[in-house]
Amino acid sequence: MRIDIVAAIPESIESYLNFSIIKNAKEKGFLQVFLHNLHDYSGNKWRKIDDYPFGGDAGMVIQCEPVFNCIEKLKEQTNYDEIIYLTPDGELFNQRIANELSLKNNLILLAGHYKGIDQRIRDSLVTREISIGDYVLTGGELAALVVLDAVVRLLPGVIGDATSALNDSFQDGLLEAPIYTRPAVFRGMEVPKVLLSGNHKEIEEWKYQQALEKTKKLRPDLLKDGF
Ligand code: 6GU
Repeated sequence: MRIDIVAAIPESIESYLNFSIIKNAKEKGFLQVFLHNLHDYSGNKWRKIDDYPFGGDAGMVIQCEPVFNCIEKLKEQTNYDEIIYLTPDGELFNQRIANELSLKNNLILLAGHYKGIDQRIRDSLVTREISIGDYVLTGGELAALVVLDAVVRLLPGVIGDATSALNDSFQDGLLEAPIYTRPAVFRGMEVPKVLLSGNHKEIEEWKYQQALEKTKKLRPDLLKDGF
């Protein structure tokens, strides 16, 4: 999979891409990530990419020119399955959308900053709009990383244990059961006996019941939505 991130401040994204699973995914050849700085496409000698909103309002708006210049150039070389704009008024991101995006080959993630981007970009370039939650961030960079991370870990081969991504919270519509590791007793606190039993059938049943109870208690909405 190839992911191009177009952003006002791509430097803020860079370090996260060089650790852990994302780093491995790149090294193993499952993932290519390219960062593009909108200031490089501004056509303005001050590298300016934003201006005041027409109609008067607080905040600055990212202008058409740098975004069109950048994305049109990318589209000359690559066929993109989706051009995704990260915005608080987009579709709410979830595991279903992550799964869906993990099946694509080429994605552009467009991260706005300031007040937002000129509507004409959304009307003519963007194919999908995603929000990562009902709160406002200062920019889309973090949201782009959230989407990238959630998608990349689903690519076949990226996570060593092939089943572990499938057991995650949300993947089956349930929160994950509690997990434990050695030692079996820590400061008098014991690991549930069933986990030490070696009886895989009982362990699976226990995990399912725990997951179900936890979901009922903390996220009953997930059960109602029905996966
Ligand atoms: Cl995608 N962008 C910004 N700026 N804020 C957000 C968001 C995105 N999703 C939730 N809040």
